[in-house]
Amino acid sequence: VKLSTQTVLITGGSRGIGWALAERFLKGGAKTLLVARSFPEDEAPAKAAKDNPDLVLLPCDLSKPVERKALCAKLLNDFDVDILVNNAGVLSGGLLQTLDPDGIETCIQVNLLASIQLSRALLPKMLEKKSGVIINNASVSAEFYFPGAQVYAASKAGLSLFTKSLAMELEGTGVRTLLLLTPGVKTKMYDDIQNRYGSFMKLDFLAAVTPEAWADRVFDSLEKEEKICYPSGKDRMGLFINRHFPSLYEKGMRSYFKGEEV
Ligand SMILES: NC(=O)c1ccc[n+]([C@@H]2O[C@H](COP(=O)([O-])OP(=O)(O)OC[C@H]3O[C@@H](n4cnc5c(N)ncnc54)[C@H](OP(=O)(O)O)[C@@H]3O)[C@@H](O)[C@H]2O)c1
Repeated sequence: VKLSTQTVLITGGSRGIGWALAERFLKGGAKTLLVARSFPEDEAPAKAAKDNPDLVLLPCDLSKPVERKALCAKLLNDFDVDILVNNAGVLSGGLLQTLDPDGIETCIQVNLLASIQLSRALLPKMLEKKSGVIINNASVSAEFYFPGAQVYAASKAGLSLFTKSLAMELEGTGVRTLLLLTPGVKTKMYDDIQNRYGSFMKLDFLAAVTPEAWADRVFDSLEKEEKICYPSGKDRMGLFINRHFPSLYEKGMRSYFKGEEV
């Protein structure tokens, strides 16, 4: 992909993985549109946008259908998006009976519904041009499951199968998808895992790479036109065991579960 001719939209672009991807796209000369609820003035995206007309910040709360619709209308009117990166996400974690019902809604809205609706809105223009890429940031949690992760896992498994179905639907159209099975990445969300899971899970199985390292891997998959971007090392091995030896996977995961919340 020749980035200097491309317009990319990255949701959740204000920090973490989204911002690491944005920096890569900007470096390649792509017009880069970022979506997040806010862009604080003292943080990198707002500072970078001040003197770079190729960086556009679009504040929007993706958990709110009304705001999503307004964003889609603006995108169709003002821009011609070639690459959509559905990356915005929120972590949900805790035993089900302890979860805030509104938080459950937010998790599904942001992680799953916003990704589906943005894809739905931007796809017709891509089909017309016979080119485009939809990148969906699921997680190894689309396949790994363990106590306390039910809602987050449901949102990511949903996003994963949405992407795989769509990939088949788009064969031969010139538009393609890339599913990210993202491993632990050192971001604000990663720091929150201890707070949400620490009271009932032993978390010593967790490991994380830097956002920049993961962005490199995503770009490698994008260039090779792969359909799925896999993690490496222990996470890749975990996916293999999960898929082919589910009982062994569950036995391993059970050993980390401490039981009731304290
Ligand atoms: N970090 C990991 O270990 C890991 C592992 C696997 C998958 N992932 C996935 O990777 C993606 C990025 O995560 P990250 O680790 O970079 O997390 P992060 O640092 O917490 O960033 C999340 C991004 O999503 C935005 N966002 C959250 N709620 C939003 C809303 N209602 N409307 C619009 N934007 C919203 C945030 O901006 P505002 O808060 O300003 O809205 C921020 O830009 C997520 O989908 C996550 O599930 C992360």
